Parts: sequence; C-alpha cells; structure tokens
Amino acid sequence: MRKKVTVVGSGNVGATTAHWIAAKELADVVLLDVIEGVPQGKGLDLAEAMPIAKQDVSIIGTNDYAETANSDVVVITAGIARKPGMSRDDLLNTNFKIMSDVVSKVVALSPQTILIVVSNPLDAMAQTAYKQSGLPRERVIGMAGVLDSARFRTFIAQELRVSVENVTAFVLGGHGDTMVPLSRYSSVAGIPITELIAPERLEAMVQRTRDGGAEIVKYLKTGSAYYAPSAATTEMVEAILKDKKKILPCAAYLEGEYGISGLYIGVPCKLGAGGIEQIVEIKLTAQEQAALQKSADSVKELCSVIGMA
Ligand code: LAC
Repeated sequence: MRKKVTVVGSGNVGATTAHWIAAKELADVVLLDVIEGVPQGKGLDLAEAMPIAKQDVSIIGTNDYAETANSDVVVITAGIARKPGMSRDDLLNTNFKIMSDVVSKVVALSPQTILIVVSNPLDAMAQTAYKQSGLPRERVIGMAGVLDSARFRTFIAQELRVSVENVTAFVLGGHGDTMVPLSRYSSVAGIPITELIAPERLEAMVQRTRDGGAEIVKYLKTGSAYYAPSAATTEMVEAILKDKKKILPCAAYLEGEYGISGLYIGVPCKLGAGGIEQIVEIKLTAQEQAALQKSADSVKELCSVIGMA
C-alpha cells in the first residue's frame, strides 16, 4: 500500500510541496485548505500531470478533514505569509490560532502521524503544534534548517563555482534573524569552507543566509519563498517515509540537549520512520553556543506571548 501524506494549506508552499512529493512518487497526497475550490483545483491539475510525469500516485484536494484520516505524515503550511516589511514574528497571533485548529483536527484522525510544521514563525508554531497535539516530541518536527542550509549552500556553491552537490552546510538555531549558520561545520567535498573563503566574505554570506527569506519577499512583494521551502520539506518527508536515517537540521523540542530545555530550536536530527530518531549533539565553541542561546531566548520570548513557553 502506498504511503499517505496530507498537506494542509494549498497556497504556494503547500501546493509546491504536493508537487515535489508527487513528482518523486513518494506518497498519495491529500491537499487540504479551508478555501473552497482551490485545493480541489490544484489537486486535480496536479493529478492530471501524473501521466506525463509517469508517477502513480493519487492526489486529491479537499476542504474535508475526513479525507486526511490515517496519514503517515501531515505537513502543515497553513497560515498567513509575510508581506514586505513584515517579520516572521508579525504572523504570530494569527498563525497561532490557525495552527491550534489544524493540529487538533488532523491528530484526531491520524493519531499515529508525524507532523512537519512549516508555518511561520516556525519555531513557535512547532512548539504550538507539539503542545496542542499531545504527540511525542519525535513526531512533531519543524522545517527550517534544511531551507536555511540550502540557501547557505547555494551561496557557497556560487561563490566557489562548484557543484551544489559538493557543498554541505549546517544552520542551527531559530528560523529568524538570530539563526546560527555554522561555517566551521560547512564544507566543500570535505574541505572546511573556512579554508576556502576569506572571513569577511564568509560573514557576508552568513548574513545573506539570515536574510534569505526577506530577500525573496522583497522581490515577490505579495508573498514569500516557496520553491526552496517546499523542496526542503520534501527532503524531510522522504527521509521519514523511506526510513533513511538522514541527518538534517530540523527544529526539535529540546529537553536538555545543547543546554536548552522545553523549547523548539534548530539542531541536527536523524530522521527516519520514527520521526526524529536522534538529536545529534555536536561540540560548539563558546561563541557558537552563545549565539544558539541568544536564538533560543528570542524563540522563548515569542512562545511566551502565545502562552506556549
Ligand atoms: C523564508 C520564509 C518563508 O525563509 O520563512 O523564506
């Protein structure tokens, strides 16, 4: 039997996630939204692309949660997106209400599912999903680090004119202005980038990574990024459905790891069939640890505003 993935939210991120999942033949997809017609239309359109893409998956769009029952993975992209001048945090209160509503409905019908949270502000929304769902922490995961690392990898590959496949990078911390791109753990074919790129040049690339979401919002004006966010989400879905045991930076609920407790924050995680199967603790310098702590403090502040700290 094929796996089943529900994508909640049929906007750009949700619909494009459905597209990548179907194009890779990972699972049957249910695209759900409160807006009438849009998930149905996009779902049908995508289903009609499958004979050409040569992939046997079913894709349906719906407004009815009943269709999502027994999903292996539920990706939550629902919420309002950023407009120019808005920070991710401006979305907090509206998206908190939406997240709480979505989580209670999907978990009632798919109690065994793994939730991947994509809505912003990411870490606070993952924290909301975890607390409102009652699921174990292994099964509530936030998507941010894969996206932020992909942006950093893109800039490194462009700078050094090497294949993107040669570049690995780690970005930890919250998905916001305080994120922590770890140059020391980023490499090109195993060579640390600190040996390949001058410090001030590297610092500019780190800053561009931190501003990566805003750079796209500024161009698009009426919305935020979606190709890279949905590709990042799909990599996590694939790691889970194929039980790949893949180490990816994800937002995870920490219970003492990295000296942080009771909070979602981006750290390296091993993703497999059980969701987060391990939180990988790497040694940080005092400066990196301080940056991670600062990022955690700002996530915690957001969480307290919505009573989720
Ligand atoms: C970004 C927004 C969606 O990073 O958070 O593109």
